[in-house]
Amino acid sequence: MQYKKLSLWVLTLGLVACSDDYTPRESSPAKTIYLEACARCHAGEPENPKRYYWSINSKNINAKYIAHKVNAGGLTMPSFPNIQGESMRKLTEYVLLHNLKK
Ligand code: HEC
Repeated sequence: MQYKKLSLWVLTLGLVACSDDYTPRESSPAKTIYLEACARCHAGEPENPKRYYWSINSKNINAKYIAHKVNAGGLTMPSFPNIQGESMRKLTEYVLLHNLKK
């Protein structure tokens, strides 16, 4: 019983930690969004085009998959529900350009 309660707490905290309320400014270029929201995990050197930050399974290299990943997150990646519309379009383009399997 006690253990069950604790597990529920851990689950709730986990879910909260898995959503990031980062909201890009309308005018932000993709690189800024990348640096502000993604670079802490998907590290790279934006000035160096030879460094790639993402390695995506070739069957998933499309804007739809990337947008879904960003909005829904993953097991260890937070979700970014506030990246939408034009910001999302710019960001997916950026991810496709800086992708190892491209
Ligand atoms: C807290 C760390 C973290 C942050 C911040 C983060 N990611 Fe991730 N991301 C991960 C991890 C870990 C994975 C691989 C595991 C998974 O799929 O959940 C991943 C996977 C991905 C994938 C899929 C790769 C594949 O092979 O399918 C994409 C695309 C991606 N991230 C894009 C982004 C973008 C764009 C941002 C910024 C808006 C971002 N991530 C922010 C940790 C993070």
